[in-house]
Amino acid sequence: MSDPRRSETVERLVAQMTLEEKVGQLQQLSSDSPNLDEKIRAGKVGSVLLGSSATAGNTPQKRVVAEFVNRLQRIAVEESRLGIPILSGRDVIHGHRTVFPIPIGQAATWDPASVETANEMTAREAAADGIHWTFAPMMDIGRDARWGRVAEGYGEDPFLASRMAEAAVRGYQGPDPSAPDRLAACAKHFAGYGASEGGRDYNVGEVSEYTMRNVYLPPFHAAVKAGVLTLMSAFIDLGGLPVSADPHLMTEVLKNEWGFDGFVVTDWAVVEELLEHGIAGNDAEAAELCLNAGIDMEMVSECFAASLPGLIARGAVEMSRVDDAVRRILSVKERCGLFVRPYTDETVAPFVHLRADHVAHARRVAADSLVVLKNAGRALPLTPSGRIGAFGPLADCPGSFLFGTWTLDGAAEAAQTILSALKERAGSDAKILHAALADDAVALARHCDRAILFLGESPGRSGEDRCISTLELPAGQLEFAKAVARLKVPLVAVVIGGRPLALPELCELAQAVVFGFHPGTEGARAIVDVLFGDHEPAGRLPISFPRSVGQVPIYYNSKRTGRPMDGRTRGQSRYTDDLHAPLFPFGYGLGYTSFSYSGLQIESVGENRFRAQVAVRNTGDRPGVETVQLYIRDDVARRTRPVKELRGFQKVRLEPGAEAVVAFEIGPEQLGYFGPDHTWTVEPGTFTVWIGPNSDEGLCGALEWV
Ligand code: NOJ
Repeated sequence: MSDPRRSETVERLVAQMTLEEKVGQLQQLSSDSPNLDEKIRAGKVGSVLLGSSATAGNTPQKRVVAEFVNRLQRIAVEESRLGIPILSGRDVIHGHRTVFPIPIGQAATWDPASVETANEMTAREAAADGIHWTFAPMMDIGRDARWGRVAEGYGEDPFLASRMAEAAVRGYQGPDPSAPDRLAACAKHFAGYGASEGGRDYNVGEVSEYTMRNVYLPPFHAAVKAGVLTLMSAFIDLGGLPVSADPHLMTEVLKNEWGFDGFVVTDWAVVEELLEHGIAGNDAEAAELCLNAGIDMEMVSECFAASLPGLIARGAVEMSRVDDAVRRILSVKERCGLFVRPYTDETVAPFVHLRADHVAHARRVAADSLVVLKNAGRALPLTPSGRIGAFGPLADCPGSFLFGTWTLDGAAEAAQTILSALKERAGSDAKILHAALADDAVALARHCDRAILFLGESPGRSGEDRCISTLELPAGQLEFAKAVARLKVPLVAVVIGGRPLALPELCELAQAVVFGFHPGTEGARAIVDVLFGDHEPAGRLPISFPRSVGQVPIYYNSKRTGRPMDGRTRGQSRYTDDLHAPLFPFGYGLGYTSFSYSGLQIESVGENRFRAQVAVRNTGDRPGVETVQLYIRDDVARRTRPVKELRGFQKVRLEPGAEAVVAFEIGPEQLGYFGPDHTWTVEPGTFTVWIGPNSDEGLCGALEWV
């Protein structure tokens, strides 16, 4: 296939461009930056960021409409010398007018096809408002629940995150990103941002090449293979070098090794922030470092624009590097169809925003993302009868509180409160009792047959710049649960959050506990669907739930130590004051039926190719969905390997009594790792294989690679 960076359009423009115009293409400015129109007219702007603050995810933003974007585009296309269209980007992170669950909730569905559809719908709604490019998906591996941005990613596991990343890219971009209802995607934040020490945003970290390759890079590589058009470089400094100034990562790995032909934009003011990092003494040094590392576009700070002509003149930056960046940017614009169709049809939005199929899918994804953590004595599903108390701070809060972080355009008016959804479902069959204040609720709970407590985090407690040092429920919520539990009223707790929370006491108090990552527009209805069993719960944790904040970072795929927790050695890697295991492991989640696993068989199906299969049976009395998970451990390798790693999963829907054989193909893709020379290697020897319902349980077998 011919190189899109060498197309006729790109060649023609590059041949005509002055240095200033080239530098202009490398500049992204925010839509509220001063003198924007004039700068666009003068060819000094390649891209506009439709937003107005560095941490916009938690700051109210003006809505974007196609008329606004078209107006800027008209200046670029009709009034600038070369008429190069602007690429307008916005943080469209988990839905647009229709809001889907936050990304970690989407990951909890373990359903890439459904995530792809959600992102396709999101693209359609955002494109109708004139947006060309979304700064999503975020695919940073999150192992520390204190970090507010675990809300925005796909969890702790590189395999699951990779499947989600591919699905999101396919959903946003489709087979042809130039279609009027698609967006360019942006894989972010490249790379290792999840390793921020102490779970504190914008902090530094240490990631070895080994861990980078095996843990943090796989989702990005998957996104590149899925055709993602852009990447965003991260804020983080790893091992003494901010990644945005790292030529190894930005150029050697991404562009040379992976063959990425799109462009890299920095995160917000990253170039200028090299001065704060203390790695550049002035704007010119910062620009030189980032451009030479392989950054193509600068977000909002203006170091490139101010210093590039001088840097070129004294040979600190090669003209060929600038041309390469320009070609990449122009070619993405071309692949987005902007040279052919620079404007957005201003009449489309009302027909696609909150379209019935989008809202229906949002309900389905939200319901699939809810994870039942506990269900003692089959407390769930509820029957709509008697007096049901609905209490807690989230019971009657505005429906938009269920949106979560980064919902700049979510239609608040479309979201119901949980209380109203409950009343709607109960109809005349049950009486829903509610009191807003805790003491009134406790008094009322005494008269209920059951109480449901809706607890959890406000959307402003997670996301960018929202890190916390405790993982407990917000102030007062546990005390409230204790007060209700004291009345001996059967208790169900629904907890909504942007991250894993440490819930050991709540899980003791309540008979049933359902966890929902902020579930979006249809969150209230989806919660009610699951509580009453109208939708079989199928969510599985994409991230471990610790017992306490002291356990973090905690993740199932930790490397083996010399003193494992199996009692074979004298000392063990553990705490003296708590268990080492999480409260709920990665991959965990219950349904309203039960499944058995039997007959694990692993057979050779060719040279170093294997097939592992189990029989999964629905042993309960309701239909249900099981997520069958394949984990593998390399028993002896030249580098220490994780205790186990997810290498496959399949969802099966089974009627009561029905059985299905679930099979996984196993070959070098499942058995290898990035070894001592940083290339994918499979080492001869035995591998342990598990197939089961989560990372902690399953049938175990072995195979040998010769
Ligand atoms: C900073 C955030 O880190 C990034 O995720 C976001 O896309 C940009 N700001 C643009 O708003």
